[in-house]
Formats: sequence, C-alpha cells, structure tokens
Amino acid sequence: MSQHTSGLAIETAGLVKTFGETRAVDGVDLAVPAGTVYGVLGPNGAGKTTTVKMLATLLRPDGGQAHVFGHDVVCEAEEVRGRVSLTGQYASVDEDLTGTENLVLLGRLLGHHKQAARKRAGQLLEAFGLTDAAGKQVKHYSGGMRRRIDIAASILNTPDLLFLDEPTTGLDPRSRNQVWDIVRAVVAQGTTVLLTTQYLDEADQLASRIAVIDHGRVIAEGTKGELKASVGAGSVHLRLRDAEQRPLASDVLRRSLDADVQPEPDPLALTARFSTAAGDAAAEQAARALGELAHAGITVDSFALGQPSLDEVFLALTGHDTHEARSTEDEDEVAA
Ligand SMILES: Nc1ncnc2c1ncn2[C@@H]1O[C@H](COP(=O)(O)OP(=O)(O)OP(=O)(O)O)[C@@H](O)[C@H]1O
Ligand SMILES: [Mg+2]
Repeated sequence: MSQHTSGLAIETAGLVKTFGETRAVDGVDLAVPAGTVYGVLGPNGAGKTTTVKMLATLLRPDGGQAHVFGHDVVCEAEEVRGRVSLTGQYASVDEDLTGTENLVLLGRLLGHHKQAARKRAGQLLEAFGLTDAAGKQVKHYSGGMRRRIDIAASILNTPDLLFLDEPTTGLDPRSRNQVWDIVRAVVAQGTTVLLTTQYLDEADQLASRIAVIDHGRVIAEGTKGELKASVGAGSVHLRLRDAEQRPLASDVLRRSLDADVQPEPDPLALTARFSTAAGDAAAEQAARALGELAHAGITVDSFALGQPSLDEVFLALTGHDTHEARSTEDEDEVAA
C-alpha cells in the first residue's frame, strides 16, 4: 500500500485502540474515497474521536493498519501530518486572542509572511461570516462562531484531508447550517473531509458514504441510499384536518401497516414507520393505508412517503437509538 494508487484518502484494516479494558476501536476497516465527505456516525463513546486521532497521528494504534493517501500513520507520520488537518471536538484556538489575531498567529506558525497571513485571515473571516467579530476576543464568541473560527483555523493551509470531529454538536439549527455550508465549500475546493457526527441528519446532508460505528466496530457501511435500503422500511408523515381524529388515525395506521405510529409535536401530524413486506413496495402499502383512513372517515390534509431516516437505520442496525450514551471519555492527547 506504500504506492498510492488506490484513489483512497484513507484506508484502514483491523484498526484497534484499547484503553485498559476498553476496546475503544475494535477492528475498524475503512475505505474513504478522495474528494468526498465521508461520515462516521455513532453515539457517545462509539470510538469516533479515537479513530480520528489515530488517523491524524495523535494516537498510536494498538493493532491493525491505517494509511492516509498511501502513507502509514505510524511509520510515515510526518508525511501524513503534512497533508491533514484536524478540527477537534474540543476546540483549540486561543480564547484571549481575537478572531483575526488567532488566524494570523496560526498563519505565521505555518510559515506565512505577515502580509499573507493577514490576507488569508481576512478572507477566511469573511467567508465564514465572522468579519464583524474579527476584532472580538474568541471567549466572547457564541458556540456557532467558535466552531466556525475553529474550522477556519484548520484550513488556513488548504489540507488534502480535513478531519471534522463532531463539528456541530451543541449548535443551534442556523449555526449548523452555516457549518454545513462551510463543509460543502471545503469539499468543493478538493479537500476530502472525514466528518464524525452523532446526528444522522448531518451525515445525511453532507456525506456521500457513511460508516455507522457502535462499540468500536463498523456495523454498517455504504452510501446513504444503501444504508436506508438495507433497513427495508418506509415512513409516512400525515397531517390531518382535525386533531381529534389523530387517535383514530393512529389506530388505523397501526392496524393497516403494522406500523410504529408516533404523534408529532404539531397536534395535527403523525408519523408511521413500517417494514416493507417482501415483494411489496412501500408506496403500495402506504396507498392502501390511505384508503383505509378515508374509509374510516378521516380527512388527511397532506401526506408524504419518506425513506427511513438515518435514525431509524441506526435503531434497526443496533437495536438501540443514538441517544443511549456510554461513558464519556477523558481527553488524552498523545503527541506522536
Ligand atoms: N484517553 C482515554 N482513556 C480511557 N478511555 C478512553 C480514552 N479515550 C476514549 N476512551 C474510551 O474509549 C471509548 C471511545 O471513546 P471516543 O472518545 O473515541 O468515542 P466518541 O465516539 O468520540 O464519543 P463522543 O461522541 O462522546 O465524542 C469510550 O468508551 C471512552 O470512554
Ligand atoms: Mg468524540
């Protein structure tokens, strides 16, 4: 694998990291095509950060192999470091410096001349919507601004591979969207992005392929479509004319689709998730259910048939949802 001809930005085989009794990463195989966003999706404690740290040469694997653009992360760590950048789950810019000062300082550390460093800082602050905050100390930034300056700091030199470790955890929807736009822009420049996330919709939005990990293992891998199809399920979202009919509508759907029916916060809306029977399309099953709703005198105002969400995929694959936390980690950065 020393000759890099595979078109893969990352290739791992049987990657392992243990902390005492904990097999944080327990034999992970990954193949990340260059030039794409690759999602690593998993709940708290799944082993995402540990995997990223090994790939970024911050943590030494206990077993298996990992190559980044054909370079071994252990024997050729320098080559790997020259091509990657990491935005960690816990941010790394200096709280007491302003946005501009942080980026200029980091630019200087990367060897840019003062003028070039200032220019690049200005460009990034503008691109990330931080021009107004450029002169403010980072400790006064909101969570979303903070995350954006972290990402800006990690792409001062355009890396070939950018690790984004849970870039939007804890952000509000608007800030998440801003970060998503940034990720799309970074990839459009040719950078490969490995994104870890606990949010299925985030992987859905950004990633072309996704590895679902749980307890240190890859439990599913594929394109979004493949993952969803593998679950063999459908969902229908309904909005009724009359909120009082919702319990009856739930009963009908439960019976007709053998569905798991959940009320939505909107008192008129409900979602039914169902398994597709062999040889039967989800759409046909849903159409039959609509007929039965009409038959029961229920007026449906709007109706949408969806693929299962990645949340449903996760539940189907693991038997538990993504919010069942394991113990949280202690930070242990190892300078290799
Ligand atoms: N330095 C460490 N020392 C001991 N145990 C650790 C260490 N780092 C991680 N672990 C353990 O390894 C497992 C995987 O942790 P990791 O941080 O990789 O998970 P994660 O998927 O990034 O989770 P989160 O979503 O909470 O960030 C957890 O059980 C964690 O407690
Ligand atoms: Mg983590």
